[in-house]
Amino acid sequence: MRSAMQRAVGTALRRASSRNYSSGTTPPRKVVVLGAAGGIGQPLSLLMKLNPYVSQLSLYDIAGTPGVAADVSHVNTRAEVAGYMGEEQLGKALENADLVIIPAGVPRKPGMTRDDLFNINAGIVKNLCTAIAKYCPGALVNMISNPVNSTVPIASEVFKKAGTYDEKKLFGVTTLDVVRAKTFYAGKAGVPVEGVDVPVVGGHAGITILPLFSQATPKANSTLSEEDIKALTKRTQDGGTEVVEAKAGKGSATLSMAYAGALFANACLKGLNGEPNVVECSYVQSTVTELPFFASKVRLGKNGLEEVLGLGSLSEFEQQGLESLKPELKASIEKGIKFASEN
Ligand code: NAD
Ligand code: LMR
Repeated sequence: MRSAMQRAVGTALRRASSRNYSSGTTPPRKVVVLGAAGGIGQPLSLLMKLNPYVSQLSLYDIAGTPGVAADVSHVNTRAEVAGYMGEEQLGKALENADLVIIPAGVPRKPGMTRDDLFNINAGIVKNLCTAIAKYCPGALVNMISNPVNSTVPIASEVFKKAGTYDEKKLFGVTTLDVVRAKTFYAGKAGVPVEGVDVPVVGGHAGITILPLFSQATPKANSTLSEEDIKALTKRTQDGGTEVVEAKAGKGSATLSMAYAGALFANACLKGLNGEPNVVECSYVQSTVTELPFFASKVRLGKNGLEEVLGLGSLSEFEQQGLESLKPELKASIEKGIKFASEN
């Protein structure tokens, strides 16, 4: 019997390959994973090897990439795999990239917030983005490293300094929040999870994660109470912590994140290939609120970000959530910008 993970990956891959393209006929696309030997990096590399849009898969880490690359390269799919290790090979790993996915950096342990990762991960992201600006300035960047609320602003500042910033190319990956919101909603609403849609807006930490269950489809079999919605919201906001605590010191979400990262990367590749109506939630430069970065539904296209979509109508509870998240998200954005300008 197929597991839920296998079914989900199967569905995602079927969706990816069902549009006009068969292996070998899609445009060549080079995808780079930075942090490819890590807890997320390894399963994400495997999922990208399964993606029929990928013709070249470049796996980079500071250690361990030759083994991961050799292993993944034996999978009989289109992508040619190459492993790169150490800073001296970073340029080679990045050159001619269409899409760079960044799951490099340290994960949380129980009791930590994502912001507690800032001191280590900010420097890692800054160095990797400096190399991206030099070796593949036109590539789309999918930022997974936490705290995403700050690492995306750091990346934007690094690219601005290098003169390569294009707001259409930089994405904070918040897909795991959407994946969780869909899963938790389907369970409570008694609807098949495969068909569920729930936008998640704001950012990617605690209360800055704002699922919009008032816009969830399909509607629940019996109306969800206010208490149900509050509990679903809290569980979505605390989803990362739920995993960190269950892993008890051995890191944070890796498998579900690899799945979510592969979904978002797939959407970016579909957009680059000119497929219509590719819409996902992502944390991007935005004018949806007064904050310079904000997660909402976005339309992806040939140049990356085609359109930042609005929030739609919010319930009173969601409206309050939106106002409550702004100070924290603003502070995280400012912290990232300050770090980049001082370093
Ligand atoms: P991990 O420790 O298992 O793997 C991280 C990898 O990054 C390691 O292989 C390490 O060698 C590598 N690395 C460190 N410095 C590097 C550098 N300078 N260049 C290239 N690679 C480098 O951690 P993980 O569980 O894979 O998590 C990675 C990051 O993703 C963490 O910051 C975590 O908080 C974040 N994360 C984000 C989301 C999200 O929804 N956006 C979800 C889960 C985890
Ligand atoms: C998640 O949402 O699972 C990630 O951001 C990792 C974490 O630290 O919670």
